[in-house]
Amino acid sequence: MDAATRPYRSVLYIPASKERALEKARELPCDAIIFDLEDAVAPDAKVAARAALVAALKTGGYGRRARIVRINALMTEWGLDDVRALKNAGADAILLPKVNTRSDVDYLADLLGDDMPIWVMMETPVSVFNARDIAAHGRVAGLVTGTNDLTKDLGSRSCTDRLPLMMALQTIVMAARAARIVAIDGVYNRFRDGEGLMAESKQGRDLGFDGKTLIHPAQIEGANRAFAPTASEIDLARRQIAAHETSQASGEGVAVVDGTIVENLHVVAARRILAKAQVLAEMENV
Ligand code: COA
Ligand code: MG
Repeated sequence: MDAATRPYRSVLYIPASKERALEKARELPCDAIIFDLEDAVAPDAKVAARAALVAALKTGGYGRRARIVRINALMTEWGLDDVRALKNAGADAILLPKVNTRSDVDYLADLLGDDMPIWVMMETPVSVFNARDIAAHGRVAGLVTGTNDLTKDLGSRSCTDRLPLMMALQTIVMAARAARIVAIDGVYNRFRDGEGLMAESKQGRDLGFDGKTLIHPAQIEGANRAFAPTASEIDLARRQIAAHETSQASGEGVAVVDGTIVENLHVVAARRILAKAQVLAEMENV
């Protein structure tokens, strides 16, 4: 799938130590998978999980889903072996945790030694201060927000409105947009609370994220809905484009739709919405 239009509405973490989950993911309607070797895997399960993941990737069957592997931090006893085992295992990207600076990315890029895209966990206060630099690194293709780690390091409280995280969330989106790469929101921990997930996903969408990281299959449908263009957004986009074309043809500069002006920049946004809707519609028909 084309990297520029590939959707990332639902990005599901799968602990590589869970054989059943590795198997189940081949059927789940998520846009991307983060196969996790890091926090979701206990220390004494790390080596076996790595081998199971390499085998699962080799077997394949993950279809259109983007396959992203979260390795252990490079200074841990597993990090370097993770890179060695995974660099040619058929993943679409390697996700690096505990990044603070751009040179952390350089280190992984040197180890990978090819053009494998790198994604970065944005989960430390220092990484947020360096967000622009990290996102601008030529090998970095996506930022994943680590809200649990950020909350821990900030010493802030988990609030429904996520006000304590707002500066970090906005900085991450801004850095990703400045570098034209993907931005994924953090997880919603109460995985059986569908309403809470929808509210937080909507907030993430409003902020500009491309999608949300998820911890349980029950969250996929909600994220897919929250990060897709709505029927009324699609309808408005079509009407904006039509009205703009009419006003251009008649020599008027500015069109008005539903009492709101439509300028070139609105048409650009409208076309983006239609392109995204088109990709999702085509995916459903496959
Ligand atoms: N990916 C794929 N499949 C998953 C899954 C996941 N993240 N989480 C659960 N499943 C599967 C289970 O294997 C089970 O499959 P089955 O019924 O076909 O056998 C089904 O979904 C239902 O699971 P359920 O019993 O409701 O959940 P659980 O109690 O087994 O697990 C968690 C709950 C939270 C422990 C589990 O979802 C999990 O490990 N999530 C990932 C956590 C993680 O990666 N954290 C790191 C990033 S924050
Ligand atoms: Mg983390």
